[in-house]
Amino acid sequence: MESVIVAIDGPSGTGKSSTSKAVAAELGLRYLDTGAQYRAITWWMVSNGIDVADPQAIAGAAEKPEIVSGTDPAAPAITVDGVDVAGPIRTQDVTSKVSAVSAVPEVRTRITELQRSIAREAGGIVVEGRDIGTTVLPDADLKIFLTASPEARAARRSGELKGKEAGDLAATREALIQRDAADSGRKTSPLAKADDAVEVDTTELTLQQVIECVVTLVEEKR
Ligand code: C5P
Repeated sequence: MESVIVAIDGPSGTGKSSTSKAVAAELGLRYLDTGAQYRAITWWMVSNGIDVADPQAIAGAAEKPEIVSGTDPAAPAITVDGVDVAGPIRTQDVTSKVSAVSAVPEVRTRITELQRSIAREAGGIVVEGRDIGTTVLPDADLKIFLTASPEARAARRSGELKGKEAGDLAATREALIQRDAADSGRKTSPLAKADDAVEVDTTELTLQQVIECVVTLVEEKR
């Protein structure tokens, strides 16, 4: 498919990553996980002893780490200063701190520039995140906004977290709601649906149905 740019936004646990990777693989497009980039810069801040409750300290360090994102949907790699951080960025510690780091404008400016240059050079890409359709790539050929009920999102996220007790579902739901509230409430490029985005409620859909829906929407844009 020629250089189509697809933006997929939405809160946590709506199936953005699984959908975006599968759509990209099926249509021969590149894939960019922008949440992984915010997680990577958060991991670097924590690893370097920077207080994530101190926006000035975060702003001052925002340009320091070198973040490189692979865009193969079959193996989306991410490195920070040459270190593979695909595992460490998924810890509870990073997850609980990423909203504070990603709310800092200097961080957003830096990561947004990186995302735009990757999208420009990709020759066709699916980019998933929170502000792709509104801020990063407002001229994307297709914008999708995925939603799902809080219960469905918490259940999916719990299933992804290895070794979780069933009783942790309520805690997972609470953590998701808090992270979404922080991401939606921040001043700079909050989580939001673009006016021209197609909203897909995935609560009652299987992953395969969501993928088929998005593939059809992309094909209509050809
Ligand atoms: O998608 P994921 O859950 O990995 O995203 C982690 C965090 O990164 C989000 O909770 C949000 O704080 C931040 N993020 C963002 N803008 C994006 C993508 C992610 O602020 N485009």
